[in-house]
Amino acid sequence: MAAFFMNFTRKHLLGIRELEPGEIAHLLDTAETFREISKRDIKKVPALRGRTVINLFFEPSTRTRTSFEIAAKRLSADAVNVSVSTSSVSKGETLSDTARNLEAMSPDCIVVRHSMAGAPQQLARMGTSPIVNAGDGSHEHPTQALLDALTIREHKGRIEGLKVAIIGDVLHSRVARSNIHLLTKMGATVAVAGPGTMVPDEFESFVETGLRIEKRIDDAIEDADVVMVLRIQRERQDSAFFPSMREYAIHYGLRRQHLERAAKDAIVMHPGPINRGIEIASEVADGNSSLILDQVTNGVAVRMAVLYLIAGVSRAEVDVDRFEPVEDAGEKAQGKKVG
Ligand code: CP
Repeated sequence: MAAFFMNFTRKHLLGIRELEPGEIAHLLDTAETFREISKRDIKKVPALRGRTVINLFFEPSTRTRTSFEIAAKRLSADAVNVSVSTSSVSKGETLSDTARNLEAMSPDCIVVRHSMAGAPQQLARMGTSPIVNAGDGSHEHPTQALLDALTIREHKGRIEGLKVAIIGDVLHSRVARSNIHLLTKMGATVAVAGPGTMVPDEFESFVETGLRIEKRIDDAIEDADVVMVLRIQRERQDSAFFPSMREYAIHYGLRRQHLERAAKDAIVMHPGPINRGIEIASEVADGNSSLILDQVTNGVAVRMAVLYLIAGVSRAEVDVDRFEPVEDAGEKAQGKKVG
């Protein structure tokens, strides 16, 4: 197994593409350490006490926004959620002006999701706050790829040497792009399959990294250790990419019989939200091989690691034993210690 030695000293987390394998390994190691905190009775440590994290989401989100908020709170940071529908964006304020105004309140990190590819990069270039990309258009979703990698490592013990199949709407998927960057950098071999209209030409450039492009779901899944299903992103489709949802489900929906071609102990993943009966059958989504909810659990640990390394004062190695549970202010006032 490859050994990577490198700390994470970047100011921003904008994508996986620019990261070195050692930086990815360090983020995953840090997340693994933080995973233990969420199993404690008191799920809170003072690592980011006094720090402020702003969640600026211009697109809907259940998993990412909630887990960034939970991650910030478990590290004792103050988490502020800006709801775009009630913010001044609805009055015509630009992304840049919104970010400048939020920066004027001295946050330690801004987590941003936007429908425009490159929006987090724009904020990172123009401002002073550390920026974390929580998904930009069809470009990248770095923390999703990290939580997927953490889940794979947890269940397979490694990433290097694994065969991963990514099935579905690759064209519109920031999850697929970030995962292909991460998995190939970490030594996995990746095959993608989707309708011809949904596997973009740009992916040919990945072929030299070992990426296989298949037309049929069965060919991508052959001997796969990991089967990743992508969501059909109806909100990003301005034209028809396949005749009907029924047709898509027949040719590209993952069903139990497909898994007979995969490795015996293959795991099934999906970033969520799932379209049951379209890209994945319920029998698979809820079956024994499915790690969909484990991915969500690991999302909190990954986002704790990212916030700690980006918004923390010290960028030294994390030592979770240093973190005593935080004392509850009310209990402290009464002279009682919590934890
Ligand atoms: N996987 C993912 O990004 O989910 P949300 O859109 O709910 O954040």
